[in-house]
Amino acid sequence: MCGIIGYVGSEDALSIIREGLANLEYRGYDSAGTALCGETVDVYKRKGELSALEGVLPSSSTATTGIGHTRWSTHGEPTDANAHPHTNESGDVAVVHNGIIENYDELKAELEARGHTFASETDTEVVPHLVEEELESGRSLVDAVSAVVDRLAGSYALGVVAAGHEGVVATRNGNPLVLGHAEDGTFLASDVPAFVEHTRRVSYPEDGDVIHITREGATVYADGEEVDREVIEVDWDAEAAEKGGYEHYMLKEIHEQPRALRQTISGRIDEVQGEADLEIDLPTEYLNSLEEIQFVACGTSYHAALYAAKLLEEYADVRASAEIASEYEFDGGRDPWRTLVVAVTQSGETADTLSALRRAKRAGARTLAVTNTLGSTVTREVDDTVFIRAGPEIGVAATKTFCSQVATLALLSVYVGRERGAMSSGDARELLSDLRGLPGAVQQVLDREEQVRVAAEEYADGDAFFFIGRRLGAPVALEGALKLKEISYDHAEGFPAGELKHGPLALVTSETPVLAVLTEGSNADETLNNVKEVESRGAPVIGCASLSVDAEKYVDEVFEVPELGELESLVANVYFQLFSYHVANLKGRSIDKPRNLAKSVTVG
Ligand code: M6R
Repeated sequence: MCGIIGYVGSEDALSIIREGLANLEYRGYDSAGTALCGETVDVYKRKGELSALEGVLPSSSTATTGIGHTRWSTHGEPTDANAHPHTNESGDVAVVHNGIIENYDELKAELEARGHTFASETDTEVVPHLVEEELESGRSLVDAVSAVVDRLAGSYALGVVAAGHEGVVATRNGNPLVLGHAEDGTFLASDVPAFVEHTRRVSYPEDGDVIHITREGATVYADGEEVDREVIEVDWDAEAAEKGGYEHYMLKEIHEQPRALRQTISGRIDEVQGEADLEIDLPTEYLNSLEEIQFVACGTSYHAALYAAKLLEEYADVRASAEIASEYEFDGGRDPWRTLVVAVTQSGETADTLSALRRAKRAGARTLAVTNTLGSTVTREVDDTVFIRAGPEIGVAATKTFCSQVATLALLSVYVGRERGAMSSGDARELLSDLRGLPGAVQQVLDREEQVRVAAEEYADGDAFFFIGRRLGAPVALEGALKLKEISYDHAEGFPAGELKHGPLALVTSETPVLAVLTEGSNADETLNNVKEVESRGAPVIGCASLSVDAEKYVDEVFEVPELGELESLVANVYFQLFSYHVANLKGRSIDKPRNLAKSVTVG
């Protein structure tokens, strides 16, 4: 996720872009830049937070047209060269982009063959080169961008300026873009906060629209024809707007999951062949000789690793385990050459995970990182890295990163399973098709938020909360309890359902709600027996149940889980996120910054 902004009007574009970028920084903050446009295009960009860009910006400018970008890296490390805007070689076309251009490799090779040279490792840089070629053939900037868009695969929102061409041209496909209509100018941005101090009159272009913003306003084209897009008034104050209208970042991030997941899987699924492409190249001989995959992780990432270990054992025919990083020793007679150690960490900076990884490296094991953060410490220390592409997560409670971690690790299980010849193409196609269905299934759960809010109201005063599940439901039970306790400060415990009668059942009363995972892949029938055990002790039960499980007659409340094979438990987790959020919100907790916790735990 990145933030883009553009402005054309009568005011000083530099100040407007600067202010807009500050308001969009929550979308990404590993580099930033702007292009100010008149007869020439002047680009200023820097790696790091906005303060670093401030150091290179001119103190004033006469430009009244400009674009800006704040970056969350997906292709290429955070460096000055990879920061946006990107330009063609002569620097007279500049582009800002949010999203992923999936066919950039192919386009780049084609452009190189025609003599273009590139300055960055990004997917975006192909766009200014393609626009340049279209402009050279005599097209207007609008027609040039329209022609380029026909060649792009993937998701994007783009803002383009070119020297000597009036205004900014923008377009979108699958990534957010909003226009702001003020008295003294027109804005484009990824999100309303970028310009809400100037105007609340907004319109939302549709996928495929090409928009020309000039001093006169915005003209929107769909399939080459001019169209009207309704202008509406938004009723947000600047602070609420930063959270996209949500009360907390956590809730916003829960709702971002469908989009984050689309980014996670984008360009990685080949359903025809039954293959997953994670942009890593582990030698087939190495994968074939593997005896074990060990995941090292903490907290929520550990729960994602537990989920993944079960998928890998099932699909890749390899021993797989999840280890709590702070407890990790590389021992037990393992052969380092036949053990792959995978660090799962959204921040890439967790001290316990890094020290577990270093232990594995010292023992001689090959290492892989699964992380959300380009350029983070973990990426510099491992042999290979896979990015989960969830976009920045501000709330301390990990939500969308958990979902994207599990999705990425499911892709890893297809990759390893297929390379080892352990997974049939039919099984791979099934799991990949479930992954494709995942964003939609998560959205169906989000659409039922009101049911969860009402249940939270009913059960919020419980003395304690127990989360249970088996197999793929067990890590989700642990994650559900962690989420609830960290933001509501209620006593919550999660465990494999079979463990109930070995101790925790003593704590179960009519005042302790039990939340059960009853999905495919979670041995729901056996868990239903545990549900009966707690019910006979008077405990109210909420079941996250798929349609194939006959849960209604055993539980007090059913949260319906769409059918999605081995990923149903992951979808059930979204109910737990919403339940935790609403219980904590009812209690007025500091949801985005819970007491005693930090987003990134850099001490061991
Ligand atoms: O950045 P990491 O994924 O390595 O962080 C690990 C844990 O600190 C983290 O998952 C923590 O448990 C969550 N913030 C809980 O919501």
